[in-house]
Amino acid sequence: MRSLCIGEEIAVDWEIAAFWRAQEQAFGLQVGYMSGDYNHNGKPMADRLGQVNCGLVGARSDPLPRPAPSRYPPPMTNLVYVLNGPNLNLLGTREPEIYGTTTLDDIAGMLEDRARELGLEIEMRQTNHEGMLVDWLHEAQAEGARAVLLNAAAYTHTSIALLDAIKAIRTPVIEVHLSDPKTRESFRHLSYVGMAAALTVEGHGADSYRIALEAVAAGTV
Ligand code: DQA
Repeated sequence: MRSLCIGEEIAVDWEIAAFWRAQEQAFGLQVGYMSGDYNHNGKPMADRLGQVNCGLVGARSDPLPRPAPSRYPPPMTNLVYVLNGPNLNLLGTREPEIYGTTTLDDIAGMLEDRARELGLEIEMRQTNHEGMLVDWLHEAQAEGARAVLLNAAAYTHTSIALLDAIKAIRTPVIEVHLSDPKTRESFRHLSYVGMAAALTVEGHGADSYRIALEAVAAGTV
């Protein structure tokens, strides 16, 4: 019989905690957790952070396999997510005097060609829904994307959810705009996306996307 106390690992890495929860299910074990976790009787599993009660343990005769001690599980790929927010599906006809006549499909084609030259791959998406952008930012990290180019359009100036999402992931995000919002109406001067983005590229029309992609290839972010 062998007792397990895994609090130290959980204290430093919640991904390892998830691993151990899976072990618990697979092997029918019950293991100790951190402060804030309770056993089936409502008794705290730990008195405070870093002090784990190891009384409630499972038993098995051989050691459990240990996960690699990494906090960065998804392998880095050459994938670059290009996420586009509301109304950008209308590029080409939408206020052409500001945004030009290039369509989003044109931009996608141009980026795919340039990405190929740079040894990168593009995942181009557009949505008119804020939460979808949040989901895609999470997905970019889960897929091991090298970076995200994000033109959040009007959500740039309103969305604390996007700010939080960018801060929540480790994947670098480059803020992209066709126009230069800082030279436009005052309500466009505030950028929540820019507060967390690794870099901002704006004011170069469709070329803003290409410049941002090249920054990824150059390792600037
Ligand atoms: C934009 C600038 C935003 O202020 C605006 O809401 C957009 C497009 C740009 O690419 O210039 O929709 O993000």
